Amino acid sequence: MTVSRGEFNSRVGFILAAAGSAVGLGNIWKFPFEVGKGGGAAFVLMYLAFCFLLCYPVMVSEIAIGRKTRRNPVGAFKALGFRRWAIVGYMGLMAGVLILSFYNVVAGWAFGYFLEMVQGNFEIGSQFDGFAADWMKVGLYGFFFMAITAYIVSNGISNGIERAAKFLMPTLFLLIIALMIYAMTLPNAIEGLKFYLIPDFSALTPTVLYAALGQAFFSLSLGMGALITYGSYVSRDQNIVTAAAFITLTDVGIAFLAGFMLFPFVFSQGLPPDGGAGLIFVTLPGVFETLGATLGIVIGSAFFLLLSFAALTSTVSLLEVPVSYLVDEHGIKRSRAVWLIALLIFLIGVPSLLSNGASSIFTNFVTLMGSDSPVDFMTLVGYIANDTMLPVGGFLISVFVAYVWKKHNLNEELATGDEDLRGSWLQTYIDIAISYICPVILGVITVVTVLDRFFGIHLFS
Ligand code: PFF
Repeated sequence: MTVSRGEFNSRVGFILAAAGSAVGLGNIWKFPFEVGKGGGAAFVLMYLAFCFLLCYPVMVSEIAIGRKTRRNPVGAFKALGFRRWAIVGYMGLMAGVLILSFYNVVAGWAFGYFLEMVQGNFEIGSQFDGFAADWMKVGLYGFFFMAITAYIVSNGISNGIERAAKFLMPTLFLLIIALMIYAMTLPNAIEGLKFYLIPDFSALTPTVLYAALGQAFFSLSLGMGALITYGSYVSRDQNIVTAAAFITLTDVGIAFLAGFMLFPFVFSQGLPPDGGAGLIFVTLPGVFETLGATLGIVIGSAFFLLLSFAALTSTVSLLEVPVSYLVDEHGIKRSRAVWLIALLIFLIGVPSLLSNGASSIFTNFVTLMGSDSPVDFMTLVGYIANDTMLPVGGFLISVFVAYVWKKHNLNEELATGDEDLRGSWLQTYIDIAISYICPVILGVITVVTVLDRFFGIHLFS
């Protein structure tokens, strides 16, 4: 059974769509608050090291597997002849479903904030807790968001995903730069920069390392086959190694800039940097207010609208993973698969929706061993899906490529579209990373930190 799968129309289309998947709430919402929780610059440094050293080679591998097989993450392992490894694909599907289920809630916040900004409600920053607890309102925004995501995905690859990404990404970039420059002019900006840029290595606990690793994978959309899926729509003359470098640099660059923008704002308002998931939502409205009513409304609305768009190019890629699986493996029509899964994921997200104050059961969901305060349901899903499943997925993908599929096959696929790669230092680096650095570091960190976070067993303290 062959169903027409579609393909990206252009080089730049793929790169922007993949960068669109990578750049999202992870960069602008999650990165700053993880930096805040993780004690600042030491976290930033670990995050950067993980992105370039570990994630880049995994990204190259994912895209190569996708392009080679032209399949979804489950089908890809099967198509290469290793049926048992399809379990990695299934795990990726699960991670994607879980991530989208709570991601969509936060996207609902972003969209809701856009509507508040349009009305000039700068007070919303101090009312964040009440806003997030209003499950009916946020649920409605989330539902709307999921519907738009589904609509784009149902339009297929080049028409839907590619077109949206081309227009939205550059605009977002410009707005962040402008806000960053403004942030630098505020009183106390320098304190924010110090927190962000001068590392205090005593802050590096296993929990922080774990969060930095999870953040790197999450931010780059790795470890769950999103880039296997996007890679499956890439043409053979595309240069994978360069494309992956561009995607990584864009993603890391935007996260880094978002921090430059946010911490001066946080410190200039005298807010604590470890405010958690509400950080940007609490901080930014007050900043927009200082711009004066008219400009504040314009910039504030533009910011949250673009944040919603950034989230949209990511939710699209998250939804595309299970959809491509149903289309390829079960021959289900794309449009039907899309709406079915979107609805299902929305429902799976309801406990996350309720876990920010609306229901006390989900808000204080569970107290993990070795900790004395309960975490909410949404945070727990984050721990499991992005902080654990993604790095484990990355670990398995690197082991698979190095020792099962074998490096010469990877190199062959990478050289298709990039003859100069053969024998270059970059190829040597990717080889070494995928065979030794990634499996060892990912394996060790995951084991140490899972014991630490979920079981309260501190191997290092
Ligand atoms: N990379 C996205 C972000 O930083 O917001 C989140 C994400 C998208 C994670 C797609 C995983 C994924 F497959």
